[in-house]
Amino acid sequence: MDIRIFETSEELDQYAAEIFRKLINEKPNAVLGLATGSTPVGIYAKMVEDYNHKKVSFSGVTTYNLDEYVGLTPDNDQSYAYYMNKNLFSHVDIPAIQTHLPDGMAEDPQEECVRYEAMINACPADIQLLGLGHNGHIAFNEPDEHLSAGTHVVQLKEETLEANARFFASIDEVPKQAYTMGIGSILKANTILLVVRGSDKAHIVKEALTGPITTQVPASLLQTHPRVTVLLDREAGRMLG
Ligand code: GLP
Repeated sequence: MDIRIFETSEELDQYAAEIFRKLINEKPNAVLGLATGSTPVGIYAKMVEDYNHKKVSFSGVTTYNLDEYVGLTPDNDQSYAYYMNKNLFSHVDIPAIQTHLPDGMAEDPQEECVRYEAMINACPADIQLLGLGHNGHIAFNEPDEHLSAGTHVVQLKEETLEANARFFASIDEVPKQAYTMGIGSILKANTILLVVRGSDKAHIVKEALTGPITTQVPASLLQTHPRVTVLLDREAGRMLG
């Protein structure tokens, strides 16, 4: 595992955006696994900046997002589809048809999981960007006795609903279910880029990266992947070595 700790968020964002820029310039048809949440916002802003400065083009890139709330339309400003358009897709030259998220409005959730998983299998990511939940979740794979390998529908844990309530008018509006790639879908990526910020995640960072590999800390399974880069701000990395 390549663990890097940055003094400022700006430096972290710059470094992450550079990883994407180099990959896309070397491989214009790269497949990117993308994430939502507050963590990647600054990274997407730098990617847009790189695009505006003509340092990179997304015209050949394909993207797959990790997750989506069940029951939200893409024009709902809390959906992850909306988030991706707002933070990245609408600012760069990626054709909409090359961007993919689970369909929050799919009629048959089971079928939707099969459809999404088949797409990921046909086209594994060159790089998968990940944030980290306070309880060690990645995407929406919550701590549990068992984890699912493929794309599935999850019942969100109370702590996740609470953490995500900040984006909604009230906690009651946070959808209780979400589509998420499974741990197996995530680990299929060629490279994984885990990004974590803030001292409130320092403990779970230490547990995930240096603790035992356990389904109770889904991110600990990343220890089994051969190519993981971890980018931390000083606060998130403060409990490491
Ligand atoms: C959410 C998302 C995850 C994200 C995590 C952390 O529940 N489903 O993909 O990584 O929580 O979010 P944040 O970056 O806002 O702390």
